[in-house]
Amino acid sequence: MNASTEFTNPKPTNSPLRKHIVTETTEMAAETTLLDPRFYTTDFDEMDRIDVSPVREEWDRLIAQMKSDPNKKHFKKNEAWNEIDWDGMEPELKKEMIDFLVSSLTAEFSGCVLYKEMKRRGSNPDICELFSYMSRDEARHAGFINDALREAGIGVNLGFLTKAKQYTYFKPKFIYYATYLSEKIGYARYITIYRHLEKHPDKMIHPIFKWFEEWCNDEFSHGEAFALLMRTDPKLTSGRNKLWIKFFLIAVYSVMCVRDHQRPAFHKALGIDIEEYDREVLRKTSEISKQIFPLEIDLDNPRWERGLTRLRAAFVDMDAAKRRGGIGGLFGKAYAGARIGKNFVGLYLIPSKKNTVPESSHLVPAY
Ligand SMILES: [Fe+2]
Ligand SMILES: [Fe+2]
Repeated sequence: MNASTEFTNPKPTNSPLRKHIVTETTEMAAETTLLDPRFYTTDFDEMDRIDVSPVREEWDRLIAQMKSDPNKKHFKKNEAWNEIDWDGMEPELKKEMIDFLVSSLTAEFSGCVLYKEMKRRGSNPDICELFSYMSRDEARHAGFINDALREAGIGVNLGFLTKAKQYTYFKPKFIYYATYLSEKIGYARYITIYRHLEKHPDKMIHPIFKWFEEWCNDEFSHGEAFALLMRTDPKLTSGRNKLWIKFFLIAVYSVMCVRDHQRPAFHKALGIDIEEYDREVLRKTSEISKQIFPLEIDLDNPRWERGLTRLRAAFVDMDAAKRRGGIGGLFGKAYAGARIGKNFVGLYLIPSKKNTVPESSHLVPAY
């Protein structure tokens, strides 16, 4: 079954307005900018050659856990799911809530497409089995979000998205760094929101958050799998590759912070202070990633937050310049682009902290 047939399209559209909204939302998801969740492709043959024997014991344990499918029945609506009054929602909040759902859906579906392709192209039984479980999970996650979007009268045409979205080619090692981090940061984000709402149930602005606890355990396991894949070859986390690891840590961390600041109304409704939340998510992700990466970002260095703030401001200006258009917009874009580059380099130049990676990478969700 391929991705384009597995997902059903949004319910039949019967009004021009609805057709327009569906198209617009699908376009929103199909858009590829520096900040949007991307679709990836890689050298699948190289990945198929991975030999997991160096981590066999831990591998078999993780695969057995994934095979047991603890979340098989989780992604179904039940009495805890309450309908949302989308029409009565304050417009800015509605826009940002939808943006949050579409961007999460795109990220989940991007994982699904990549993992499914690996399973389809591979012949290595270990690798194929892992990727079949992971694509199963991501398909559920994406489907569940799309269902929530349909309640708002919209939905993303995932079959179309598979074809329309641009694919970024990454060497397998870059896929490991980027995907490992996005799985772990995904876990940290979902669990942080979930724990916050446990304490503040009055801020539950959408029932989907009630599903986040078990959901994020899937993401945690996916991250564990990538940690094991990296451990099969020590070269991946040593020598010059440490420079790449640092690059991906900063890229993934900073994109998250920039994106979150684009949704002020959404975070306000949840009662979440964006800066505190980002700090907390990065702290958790950084702590977890010590399981495999020999370095960590010095999040306490004052240059880190200062640089992030400047980077965010440059992205805001970039957005404004794009909207302005014309010659002024063009210059504005070039200037903002240069500042984005400069501030990224500034973040990169902050000395990282050394980390001694433990013998075993095995971790359990602890937050
Ligand atoms: Fe997922
Ligand atoms: Fe995942």
